[in-house]
Amino acid sequence: MPDFRMLLSPSANHVYRDATPRLAAAELEITAGFADQIAITSLGRADALRFSADDLDELALAAQSSLLVGFEESDGWLRPLDLPNLQVMDDDLVTIPKYPGKTNEAFTRLLLHLTLSQVSRPGPLEVLDPLAGRGTTLLAAWQAGHHGFGVEADEKAFDALASYLKTYLRTKRIKHSAQVSRVRREGRSLGRRLDAEARLDEATHDHPAQPGAPRLKMTVFTGDTRDSATLFGRKRFDAIVTDAPYGVVHGAEQRSSGQRGSDRHGSERHGDPHPGGRDRSPSGLLAEAIPIWRSQLKPGGALGISWNTYTLSRDELLEMLTDAGLHPFDDGPWLEFEHRVDSSINRDLVVAITD
Ligand SMILES: C[S@@+](CC[C@H](N)C(=O)[O-])C[C@H]1O[C@@H](n2cnc3c(N)ncnc32)[C@H](O)[C@@H]1O
Repeated sequence: MPDFRMLLSPSANHVYRDATPRLAAAELEITAGFADQIAITSLGRADALRFSADDLDELALAAQSSLLVGFEESDGWLRPLDLPNLQVMDDDLVTIPKYPGKTNEAFTRLLLHLTLSQVSRPGPLEVLDPLAGRGTTLLAAWQAGHHGFGVEADEKAFDALASYLKTYLRTKRIKHSAQVSRVRREGRSLGRRLDAEARLDEATHDHPAQPGAPRLKMTVFTGDTRDSATLFGRKRFDAIVTDAPYGVVHGAEQRSSGQRGSDRHGSERHGDPHPGGRDRSPSGLLAEAIPIWRSQLKPGGALGISWNTYTLSRDELLEMLTDAGLHPFDDGPWLEFEHRVDSSINRDLVVAITD
């Protein structure tokens, strides 16, 4: 059986770097059924995976979130594979924004890929992040050629996403529309919404048309995630991908002493969507929100969520998902994603599917 190597991307600001090969191996095992005997190895000083395959699926290998280069190994030589580029927008769409509380983009791509791998429908898919922050999931979805939808309680995070997106699309000279408007129902103001569309299939002066490329849509509402079904009405999504509040208070001291940039999840720093104080643990919020999110999934849809296990145990979260009628994956490689982010955050993820 031919052998292959997959050189792993060294991500900037990657606080869980030591865990990356283990996470990448589990992602490969789950999403690339052809890969056999997956082992963690290195190439020079870079982390890599080694695997055997009778029938290499180049598309599945190209979709791995931490792939840098793929090689075929024969007689001690490594031949680089000419893998397709599956990204429809540049990397910098996701990497430019830097702010405290941003979910690490490499981790976001991993969670997105794992979740979408459980949806059998062909893309472009409709992805909802009901705790959208400044939109890392939605931008990663766009980059991978899917539509992004979101809800975010923090108005400042919403404004930051809206203005970043407008500037990015204008600067990159991508044909687009993007506007923020007020949401009113029965004369009552329900907050604001961002509606954007990137028409990648249309050429501009310095942006070549990508024939067959999707017209990517994004809609984000300000508001409480528990109102997500009201805000989106009858709309249903192929996938929900979200990074739950980490229940971490980031004091001034922590921020000034070598803030670790992305991956420090400051839900508190995004402003308090619950006047009168916030529950430090996201468990109350998730217990209420998960059934609502479940109702927004299409049949055959999938929900992927990451969270801080110091504030909520895996078993508790699995129970919430099961109670809502979802079927979480909880065996084999699905148990390999837990990793330490810092002294107050131990992150894990779970993906669950509908019937
Ligand atoms: C871990 S952060 C997500 C960060 C996001 N992935 C990013 O990179 O920008 C969780 C987000 O949930 C938001 N949030 C917390 N409680 C909420 C609620 N009840 N309704 C809507 N959003 C909420 C916070 O404001 C925060 O932006």
